[in-house]
Amino acid sequence: MRLTVIGTGYLGAVHAACMADIGHEVLGVDIDAEKIAALSEARVPFFEPGLQEVLGKAVGSGRLHFTTSLEEAAEFGDVHFICVSTPQCRDSPAADLRAVDAVIDGLAPQLRRRCLIVGKSTVPAGTTARLAMRVREQAPEGTDVEVAWNPEFLREGFAVQDTLRPDRLVAGVLSQRADRILREVYAPLVRAGVPYISTDPATAELVKVAANSFLATKISFINAMAEVCDATGADVMSLSEALGYDPRIGRRFLSAGLGFGGGCLPKDIRAFTARADELGVGSAVSFLREIDEINARQRRRTVDIARDMLGGTLAARRIAVLGATFKPDTDDVRDSPALAVAAAIHREGAEVAVHDPEGMDNARAVLPKLDYVPDVDKACLGADLVLHLTEWSDYRRIDPGALAVVTPARKILDARNALDASLWRSAGWTLRAL
Ligand code: UGA
Repeated sequence: MRLTVIGTGYLGAVHAACMADIGHEVLGVDIDAEKIAALSEARVPFFEPGLQEVLGKAVGSGRLHFTTSLEEAAEFGDVHFICVSTPQCRDSPAADLRAVDAVIDGLAPQLRRRCLIVGKSTVPAGTTARLAMRVREQAPEGTDVEVAWNPEFLREGFAVQDTLRPDRLVAGVLSQRADRILREVYAPLVRAGVPYISTDPATAELVKVAANSFLATKISFINAMAEVCDATGADVMSLSEALGYDPRIGRRFLSAGLGFGGGCLPKDIRAFTARADELGVGSAVSFLREIDEINARQRRRTVDIARDMLGGTLAARRIAVLGATFKPDTDDVRDSPALAVAAAIHREGAEVAVHDPEGMDNARAVLPKLDYVPDVDKACLGADLVLHLTEWSDYRRIDPGALAVVTPARKILDARNALDASLWRSAGWTLRAL
């Protein structure tokens, strides 16, 4: 089939490459000419494990091309996937849908052939219906265009495998024809056993925000338990292990620590509460505000413990921060808990040296005042305290005995509960965890 993928960020670039990989003719579209130039040469403009190989293969096969022209996209596509970002509005918790609207406004007037527009971005319930109206108003008379929603559940760091072998596919469609087209797009995946759920667009939109809300709730739940554990002398790691053996609960997303960040979970739960308020059902999901607050509290607790470990003040203390991205295996620093903590301790007067395996350039762009040191030993040189804020596997491989040579103070706060505490302690370190 001939597909376009409009918006080539984390979501779109992966979707475009993977759709070409399963045999479709794909045209990736973006307004960012630099990004399009890079992708056309099969260069991935961000860090995502495994994407380089799939993109290289897809471009090499001649099935994947890129353009900045929506006119070209309109001429090319049987199916147009919208993959632009829907960030939080600057001055409210609601989702900013301007990029999605701009795609519709740019595409609809140019459509001449029968096609299906399929949204993949995370949007408030009711968006498909609104966009369908917007398309009808702008598409040339007589053009047969439908709108459907097919939310994406991929995780950064696992984007390729999540796209080629997703847990499920959800199609929010208004007609059998749209359903048939989407089943055809995903036929190789469905044949391989991926469950395909066909439903209405409002449900499809909601599945996505409900899933992210549930995941955020799980994380904040275990972080709330961690605070109670601290007060009672209990161990949240054993607690979550023991809870996780109950298959109704499950072990995943039950790791206590600095909490969730990134471009999705935080803004999605906020946009969900804002949309529920608009729909008059705000009180049904008001607990999500508490989930957000528990999450924010982990960042404050980390700063409080750090201050406590340094005898009550962070001012003029030298602090090494290990990890800047919102989680490992990505270079994404959007709403990164690690960077929020780094910024807070810097505001209290600490000298902060940051290390991250992939996220330094993005972090520097957001927080230029910190020192960015591309080597763990150098970042930790003379540090009064080391903060472990993002659990990259590199940090688990650090030899605490060797690091102690450059960090005689030997104090570390493991805000991700990911280091081997007994190993560090036996090398003479004072280790505290969240
Ligand atoms: C999340 C969802 O997991 C995806 O299913 C969804 O498609 C995506 O958002 C999206 O909406 O596009 P992602 O943002 O890549 O994916 O990150 P996650 O792997 O979900 O991690 C989110 C945050 O939770 C990270 O900051 C991570 O460190 C934190 N986390 C995760 C915990 O603090 N504890 C855990 O046990 C698990």
